[in-house]
Amino acid sequence: MTEDITAKSPSSDIFSAGDGYLGDPAVRAEWDNRYADRGQLWSGQPNGALVAEVAGLTPGRVLDVGCGEGADAVWLARGGWDVTALEVSGVALERATGHARDADVDVRWVHAALTEAGLAPASFDLVSAQYPALLRTPEAAAERALLAAVAPGGVLLLVHHAGMEARDADESGFDPADYVWPSMVTAQLTDDWVVEVDEQRPRVAPDGGAGAHHTDDVVLRARRLR
Ligand SMILES: C[S@@+](CC[C@H](N)C(=O)[O-])C[C@H]1O[C@@H](n2cnc3c(N)ncnc32)[C@H](O)[C@@H]1O
Repeated sequence: MTEDITAKSPSSDIFSAGDGYLGDPAVRAEWDNRYADRGQLWSGQPNGALVAEVAGLTPGRVLDVGCGEGADAVWLARGGWDVTALEVSGVALERATGHARDADVDVRWVHAALTEAGLAPASFDLVSAQYPALLRTPEAAAERALLAAVAPGGVLLLVHHAGMEARDADESGFDPADYVWPSMVTAQLTDDWVVEVDEQRPRVAPDGGAGAHHTDDVVLRARRLR
């Protein structure tokens, strides 16, 4: 992406017609199909761990990685955050922009995969990744991209379903070995980072939506010192 996506402007939806998508078309298609199967996939409520962890933070520039149908992005924007929300699914983004319109908030939507988006380095005070479905690579590209986006003094908040990484592949084709889990991001942290939270805790589960059966979260909150 050549545009500096941190230079937020009003009504800057840049995913029109899907043509501007940056990323693997197969990943977009997989998630588009999943969203298109249901009129609404997630609960429509902000994630509980996000709400809890953001409580003590001063609103600034936030990147929502894999924003889905936009509940977190809208909630953050309502709270005074300058929100950039990144997502591979155009179907999800259409819904997300609608919710933002209904809420009368401004969010900068980016139709891209995390590692393809060309994010300006060190440009967010908070990078939030809530149950992200990031594919694993030998180079740890997704882990590095999450960390690289955080500005000095800023926070990476990564929340995932507990116990997933230890599971076997299932019949649906889902194999945990294909994905990035919080421990892999922790493994990439250098002396420039301090871990503020790294724990498993009961999930504050929203009512309804796919994934409501998951009962525990792993919460990683790391602050970039320099
Ligand atoms: C389990 S859902 C979580 C959605 C949202 N964060 C929530 O908590 O409701 C994972 C999301 O990540 C998106 N996604 C998958 N691969 C991605 C990638 N490489 N970059 C950005 N988003 C991605 C999917 O389309 C999906 O919306």
